[in-house]
Amino acid sequence: MKKNIWLLIFILGVVFSSCTEPSPKKKADDKTVIAYSELYRPQVHFTPPAKWMNDPNGMVYFDGEYHLFYQYYPDSTVWGPMHWGHAVSKDLMHWEHLPIALYPDSLGYIFSGSAVVDDNNTSGFGKDGKVPLVALFTYHNMKQEKAGRNDYQTQGIAFSLDKGRTWEKYKENPVLKNPGIRDFRDPKVSWNDASKKWILTLATLDCITFFSSPDLKNWTKQSEFGKGMGGHSGVWECPDLFPIKVEGSDLEKWVLLVSINPGGPNGGSATQYFVGNFDGKVFTNERKNPEPRWIDSGKDNYAGVTWSGIPKTDGRRLFLGWMSNWQYATVVPTQAWRSAMTIPRELKLVQVADEEYAIKGYPTSEFENYGAKWDDLLSNPGQFQSVSLAQFALGKAAAFDYSVELDPSESSKTTIQLSNNFNETFDIVLDKTIQQIRINRMKSGDVSFNPEFQKEILVPVNLIDHVKIRLVIDQASVEMFIDGGLTEITNIVFPKEIYNKVDIRSDQKFSVFSSKVRKLNSIWH
Ligand code: FRU
Repeated sequence: MKKNIWLLIFILGVVFSSCTEPSPKKKADDKTVIAYSELYRPQVHFTPPAKWMNDPNGMVYFDGEYHLFYQYYPDSTVWGPMHWGHAVSKDLMHWEHLPIALYPDSLGYIFSGSAVVDDNNTSGFGKDGKVPLVALFTYHNMKQEKAGRNDYQTQGIAFSLDKGRTWEKYKENPVLKNPGIRDFRDPKVSWNDASKKWILTLATLDCITFFSSPDLKNWTKQSEFGKGMGGHSGVWECPDLFPIKVEGSDLEKWVLLVSINPGGPNGGSATQYFVGNFDGKVFTNERKNPEPRWIDSGKDNYAGVTWSGIPKTDGRRLFLGWMSNWQYATVVPTQAWRSAMTIPRELKLVQVADEEYAIKGYPTSEFENYGAKWDDLLSNPGQFQSVSLAQFALGKAAAFDYSVELDPSESSKTTIQLSNNFNETFDIVLDKTIQQIRINRMKSGDVSFNPEFQKEILVPVNLIDHVKIRLVIDQASVEMFIDGGLTEITNIVFPKEIYNKVDIRSDQKFSVFSSKVRKLNSIWH
């Protein structure tokens, strides 16, 4: 009976909700009716309780909480009038869903953007010593778009004085008008020590434009970046700009992340990056090779950016991406909700050749500390095996963290196959002869919803004699980290149950040095 009442309340809530008439109580959550155990529901990844989600937004750390806002449409499981959904976490693993933070208004839908802690109250939004959180987002005005105008995307701001629980939009929005560029969006703001100003990194068509401001309200154009650099076969979106030290040295470089859609290395959407310098006004790409470098070579890591406000004493650069691809995001076969985020990753910059730097992305220490200890699956741990078939049962768990170190066979392919009791398989083929990894999702579960999902995923990888592979296996994704995250390959899947077996096979000899698993509990139960 009680259950039915809640169900009725939930249904009435959905029926009477209107995206332009905010109700302060509306929550992207109803624990009573959301079981988090539906078919395909990720168990260690963030998902909205119900309805449509895309990009992570406004990621900011403040007062002991990691905030995650996200592109959210509370009335459907396909994209629609965008809101900012909201959740907080103390450990980057468990998430508490909070009420919707930003609703569309007469200026437009609320597209992607960022949030900062305005410690010095440069914006003047702070009151009674309360430090304001300030969010910058893109207004997307549908009426103007339909009227055929080009200036329908502008930037707005909002602030919160209660740890992000409620937000007030600035009365004089928009703070940055559009000069007539159709794609003019996704502001990522950071404080710049060199110029003592806020820097806004904005995606403008297939380039980036930098603006600066003393107060987050008045913005002045500084420079543009992108012509002739990186990929340009799609629109540039969701940029991020940050300084980072080269691992093991004091040398500081600036990294510019730029998502592009389409134009990813395996089709559809993906995130490229540039490494160079930013002098407070101008970004210079120091890489001689104009080919893009990719944050992730899989199909399903898009629009990812990093958290602002991480204390200096922590100093990490923490990243999260949307685990889908615009090629098929709106038709993936989940029922109650659509899309998940990646596991939060720490980004590091490493030198890979003379004057050549690359990003390494690896699950954060919070993920490492979450769940049980590693179990050795090799009968004699440390043993050097030379076999042509190695089989490992992972046991039973909500999700698995699996690690294998191996020397793939020299002249033939070595396949790491994940499978479940329904004979659904996810194949990772290591081909040393051509230094390539191929991922085959053909039999991975439901693949019927889109032909692009069925295509093989090709990744150039430096396959040496001792390859370290870590796989984060959840109900609906396999995130692969090679050699400490130098290559990241994220792919979603829709099997009837989680993969719980690993077979490694080749028609020639190969060696397995270690095979370990950590069993992970659900973050929701
Ligand atoms: C990226 C994106 C952004 C935009 C948002 C709209 O996935 O297209 O550029 O702000 O999604 O939901």
